[in-house]
Amino acid sequence: MSAHRIAVLPGDGIGPEVCTAAQQVLESAGLDAEWVGAPVGWTEWCERGEPLPPATLELIRETRACLFGAITSKPAAEASAELVPALRDRGLTYRSPIVRLRQELGLHTCARPCRSLPGVPGAFEGVDIVVFRENSEGEYLGVEFNGLPACVANHERSVAHRNLPGGTVATSCRVVSEAACERICTGAFDFARAHGRRHVTLLEKANVLRTTGEVMVRSFRRVADRYPEIETREEHIDAACMHAVRDPARYDVVVAGNLFGDIFSDLAAGLVGGLGFAPSANTSGPRSEGGTGVFEPTHGSAPDIAGKNLANPIGCVLAGAMLAEWLGERPAAERVRTGVEHVLTKGDIRTPDMGGTASTDDMTEALARACAAHKTNDAITAPHDARGNQ
Ligand code: NAI
Ligand code: MG
Repeated sequence: MSAHRIAVLPGDGIGPEVCTAAQQVLESAGLDAEWVGAPVGWTEWCERGEPLPPATLELIRETRACLFGAITSKPAAEASAELVPALRDRGLTYRSPIVRLRQELGLHTCARPCRSLPGVPGAFEGVDIVVFRENSEGEYLGVEFNGLPACVANHERSVAHRNLPGGTVATSCRVVSEAACERICTGAFDFARAHGRRHVTLLEKANVLRTTGEVMVRSFRRVADRYPEIETREEHIDAACMHAVRDPARYDVVVAGNLFGDIFSDLAAGLVGGLGFAPSANTSGPRSEGGTGVFEPTHGSAPDIAGKNLANPIGCVLAGAMLAEWLGERPAAERVRTGVEHVLTKGDIRTPDMGGTASTDDMTEALARACAAHKTNDAITAPHDARGNQ
């Protein structure tokens, strides 16, 4: 019997390509896993009207560990139009299965490390940012309305919107709780302390989103008081985007709500060479305390390159390394990271996003070979030097 049972949800577009790559590389690195595949995504929606089948959700509840590829989410009108005819006019509404997974499984903490890797064109050197994104609420709770609910329509600030014709105005709610804000801030500060990081920056917009922003700022300050050795800064999300592209070294650990964390983590991925290099961990807590974890690349289904063997699998492979580490398999995780660095340093295998012509399969084989080689070396050089890397 394998040491770990792991659900694999390849999903749409390049999701299956990068998931296969990550499984192969993890196995070469010595992770002993039984992979249990399950459907998720656009085809499930179009053919069955449910992008997250109940059996898939049940499987993750059972394994508590999951590798997720990517899904396609299209706007409401397109989603309805692409349903098979028998399911149209049933009032079905599409909800993003990854957002739903995070909510249903209580995966409140999203950690997204963005670290410079050797030999990646267009990347800044020395970037080492870990974004902690609140995963369960904010705008992504998905409480939205066509038109204005009464409390909005009657609000003094919506005079200009109140009499707009039906179908021309919509409302989104930003729901923010102290409990969730404190939880994500605690996650960020705990990580900083455990990994000897010196600085945590809060990204908000409390000068405009005054009521909800204030909940996050208050929570951040309360949590920060418990970590006196760690320096803090509070920044507006818009200013932070400008600072980050000019001087990424300004950021160490970063914490933000759901929407701002999503945006800033893509921006941070851009600083280290693009979405092809960015992993992501959604967890409800440590594995040893009964937590559940869904690990995925930060990118989406990339329809522009899907099915062409062109995707860079490194983001998903590094997500696999985070999964291995979270499962307590640190040597395998380290072998994967060392293997990635080895292949990138050598520089002869480069996918098109790196300016090269190598395929997903070429990169996967090179990574698997490098991991297998490190496994052999370990036997001689053990104990393995585990760097405290996300
Ligand atoms: P995307 O991340 O899929 O792609 C953005 C750009 O980055 C594209 O040009 C793509 O080719 C490139 N890219 C992404 N991953 C890459 C990789 N591994 N190697 C090389 N290039 C890569 O974001 P986009 O275009 O905004 O969304 C496409 C679809 O993905 C949409 O339906 C969206 O809803 C969905 N999506 C799903 C996510 C998830 O599954 N967690 C996250 C973000 C978007
Ligand atoms: Mg995103």
